[in-house]
Amino acid sequence: MNETQERLQFPDGFLWGTATSSHQVEGENTNNQWWEFEQQPGKIWHGQRSGLACDWWRNAEVDFDLMQQLGLNAHRMSVEWSRIEPEPGRFDPAAIDRYREMLDGLRRRGMEPMVTLHHFTNPLWLERRGGWEKAEVTPYFQRYVRHVVQALGDLCTLWVTINEPLVYVAQGWVRGIWPPEKNNLPLALRVFRHMLQAHGAAYQTIHALQPEACVGYAMPVRVFSPSNPTSWLDRKAAGIKRYIAEHVWIMGTIDGRVRFPLGLNEYHHTLEDSADFIGINFYTRDLVRFRPDPRILFGEEHYHPEGEYSDSGWRGVYSEYAPQALNQVVHEVSVFHKPIYITENGLPDQDDDQRPRWLLGHLHELYQAIQDGCDVRGYFHWTFTDNFEWSEGWGLRFGLVELDPETQERRLRPSAAMFSEIARSNAISRSLVAHYAPALLPALFPGKENTKSH
Ligand code: BGC
Repeated sequence: MNETQERLQFPDGFLWGTATSSHQVEGENTNNQWWEFEQQPGKIWHGQRSGLACDWWRNAEVDFDLMQQLGLNAHRMSVEWSRIEPEPGRFDPAAIDRYREMLDGLRRRGMEPMVTLHHFTNPLWLERRGGWEKAEVTPYFQRYVRHVVQALGDLCTLWVTINEPLVYVAQGWVRGIWPPEKNNLPLALRVFRHMLQAHGAAYQTIHALQPEACVGYAMPVRVFSPSNPTSWLDRKAAGIKRYIAEHVWIMGTIDGRVRFPLGLNEYHHTLEDSADFIGINFYTRDLVRFRPDPRILFGEEHYHPEGEYSDSGWRGVYSEYAPQALNQVVHEVSVFHKPIYITENGLPDQDDDQRPRWLLGHLHELYQAIQDGCDVRGYFHWTFTDNFEWSEGWGLRFGLVELDPETQERRLRPSAAMFSEIARSNAISRSLVAHYAPALLPALFPGKENTKSH
């Protein structure tokens, strides 16, 4: 029996961790626009609020200890602008101290931190000044980033400037279901443009302070496929989505050009070659069918009618199981010759009856992409502990660890043990698949008597 057929081995030094964001886990982030939004009736599922969230501001260490026990070697977290700079130009040393304690805590437990500088939330003072709609956001962001890197740079070298700019823009200015609840395409494009420029500025700021830094962004890369592949209109509509969702941003950070519809191809030297890695947040694929509506960029997104879906959100289905699409996007992003991190991947699954198989299915596709030569350096599962899922409140449970937000009681889901075994061995073994997702044995370990499980 060939030993290699018993294990799918990942590259040495591969990072295995989970991802979180400040507002979703810290609790009592009262000084940002999301907190304000949550207080208004009808905005969040069942009127829920982030409240104490996972209580990380007081005690992230509870989860850090669990991560260590599971043998994870990395964690992606974000720092909260509204805590660090509660008023314009005034920085709070106590907030910095707490983040130093957290980063140091991760390191001491054997985990490499990856720090995101903007993950959907803004200080209220910035909101009041027009937030990301105004060009002044770039110098504001740069000032904040400078402060953070000066204060935390000895504890972190892996930086994500901005998380999912497109999701932030689409939810806030196109679909209008997140603050500031607008439905205004020209403004949406302006915000997107400012985020791209701010990313470039932040990249330069970080590197000036920390030449060894590794700086990237987290993109919600999806596969947009035409609903009907023989329809020219569906193919064009899918192409437009992909152009806007991936090409405009990623190519901008490669050649420094701000492309249509964000600009007229003008060159920004701060933007050129401004990604040391590309972070991919991957949840699902989308089918796109043409609809003559510019507000949705002429394409309506939907899932395959016969697909397998995760737990649903209150505004519709959350995600479709399509792990091969992860393989595809990793190949697509590899053409830029930058290291890749999977900065998020996961699913809402309260009872954990899909997560083990979904997780293994995705990791298998990632493994295949690495075998094909794609330079993937790590995988961050979304998320560690169930947390505040934006508009969906506590209704969607993405955690490897189940949380009761009332009591703060934690309970490891079976997937946590599985992920731990993978992280510790840096591999997926045949026996692990047989135990957690026997249905996947023929795909992961073909050519053997794989039909039987434990
Ligand atoms: C975001 C997270 C979110 C996750 C699950 C991503 O779009 O970065 O903040 O919780 O997806 O919906």
